[in-house]
Amino acid sequence: MGYLTTDKKKITANTFLKMKHAGEKIAQMTAYDFTTARIIDSAGIDSILIGDSASNVVCGNDDTLPITMDEMIYHAKAVARACEHALVVCDMPFGSYQVSREEGVRNAIRIVKESGVDAVKLEGGEEIADTIRGIVQAGVPVVGHLGLTPQSIHKFGGYGLRAGEEAEARKLMADAKALDAAGTFCIVLEKVPAKLAAEVTRTVKAATIGIGAGNATDGQVLVSADALGMTRGFKPKFLRRFADVAQCMTEGVEAYIRCVRESSFPAEEESY
Ligand code: KIV
Repeated sequence: MGYLTTDKKKITANTFLKMKHAGEKIAQMTAYDFTTARIIDSAGIDSILIGDSASNVVCGNDDTLPITMDEMIYHAKAVARACEHALVVCDMPFGSYQVSREEGVRNAIRIVKESGVDAVKLEGGEEIADTIRGIVQAGVPVVGHLGLTPQSIHKFGGYGLRAGEEAEARKLMADAKALDAAGTFCIVLEKVPAKLAAEVTRTVKAATIGIGAGNATDGQVLVSADALGMTRGFKPKFLRRFADVAQCMTEGVEAYIRCVRESSFPAEEESY
């Protein structure tokens, strides 16, 4: 890992574009800490996102709004340190890019400089295109995020399907084109009709990554805690659980408690 110490091929923003053109699907998952990111990276994932969903998953908040730049950088440092192969993308938190282009560019640079991630992700369309242009010009690859954008939860008032109506679908397509023109190499499409996501995927140069956006996007992303079965109450239609880590952990903890209580742990061979 690191400068001149590995020949393992690291995924880049360019790799995403090549994969799109070759029709190879991109697999992305979130992670927020070193140990989980190491497991996910070693399994061969193409990209890890340090989502601001850390606010919900790690900190137990109701939404993504409270998480700060310092907190995102703390998580991003740990994940970036763990990844030898995956492209590492860090969410820019709410409030870090909405005020002005200058502040957005400064904060994007700070995230990359302090954490070592490969790219940043911002939520929004035409209204942030100029900020994205500035970040790309500064040399930082940018991922866009359209459809359900959790940082605007109070504007929309819920986590339902987006762009189901014709006017909203047209607006989403215009936003996708604006992000594409601003230089994003990838656009996340969250909770939008599969047909619209397919149309956007055919239209833009950027690779599209879907979550609740059907099967025609260039890739998929899921929150690791949901996909691996650590969270149990959250059951949206788009979510498939690929493991039951909560059950596995519960059994492990119960076994540990039993062994401590019956004094069979530590055994002699586990003692000094
Ligand atoms: O914060 C996050 O985890 C995300 C994904 C759901 C795309 O933005």
